[in-house]
Amino acid sequence: LIWILGMVLYIALMAEAFMGYVLPWGQMSYWGAKVIINLFGSFPIFGELILEFILGDFSVGDPVLNRFFSLHVIAIPLILVILVFMHIVALHTVGSNNPDGVEIKKNKDANGIPKDGIPFHPYYSVKDIMGVVVFLMIFSAIVFFAPALGGYFLEAPNFVEANPLKTPGRIAPLWYLTPFYSVLRAIPPMFGSQLPGVFAMFAALSILVALPWLDRSKVKSIRYRSWPYKVALGIFVVSFIVLGWLGMQAVTPLYSLMAQIFTALYFAFFILMPWFTSIGKTKPVPERTTER
Ligand code: HEM
Repeated sequence: LIWILGMVLYIALMAEAFMGYVLPWGQMSYWGAKVIINLFGSFPIFGELILEFILGDFSVGDPVLNRFFSLHVIAIPLILVILVFMHIVALHTVGSNNPDGVEIKKNKDANGIPKDGIPFHPYYSVKDIMGVVVFLMIFSAIVFFAPALGGYFLEAPNFVEANPLKTPGRIAPLWYLTPFYSVLRAIPPMFGSQLPGVFAMFAALSILVALPWLDRSKVKSIRYRSWPYKVALGIFVVSFIVLGWLGMQAVTPLYSLMAQIFTALYFAFFILMPWFTSIGKTKPVPERTTER
């Protein structure tokens, strides 16, 4: 349940970021919205209807901007806050994991307090404040000194007002969405329909939901896992980063081929997971956490 709620949070956050990027109403806002919203039109039979429903019109215009504004500033933030709350409530039932993967609630003292646990305050409150401070330093540095960050946070075409009559040379989302955009572009249209690519993109995202059921390993922590798992994870991380990089580049035959290869590797990680998590020799997991 924690994992599923985390995935819903991730998808809601992606929607929040996408809708926010439409709000400045620059060229990238407009054309990005057009590309992504039009994907819903490839849905069989009801495509046109869904498209019209989202647009409130026949093209990206005022209704989209109004709706995305409401969704971005209040509706989705509210959903995000509720999801975060549910995520933490779910975590409290089972307790946090640890680098050893020891079941924290198995070993309790006379007062019912887990022996391998430590109190949230001051240990984690301090650790979290440290994380927040480091984040705010980087965040403020970007906001106040380099808001565009060489196009990685604000793309140059978005400084030009939205113009439905002028398509920008290259339409690409920002890096935090490009791995999935790459999967979309990797699958060519079939019978003039973009559906296969759209399906692959949604599959790339939703397959993450199934991860806890695909993992067949006897041990939780990577410390005690077999090497086939570590190799597979390494290939997956590289594939995800390469897909993200490819999504920022203009399409060439070589890049398209690479996107297809790394998309295959991305999906292979999940499809082969039941196999590579059940082979190889795992190390014995300690009864209690090893670092105290
Ligand atoms: C995690 C939460 C959020 C994310 C990831 C997010 C993301 C974004 C992004 C990427 C943009 C485009 C910025 C640009 O290119 O100029 C944006 C714009 C905007 N966001 Fe958010 N946002 C979040 C929360 C909020 C909230 C809570 C509010 C208001 C209560 C808000 C209000 C706005 C407004 C008004 C704009 C338009 C700014 C402009 O016209 O340049 N956002 N957001």
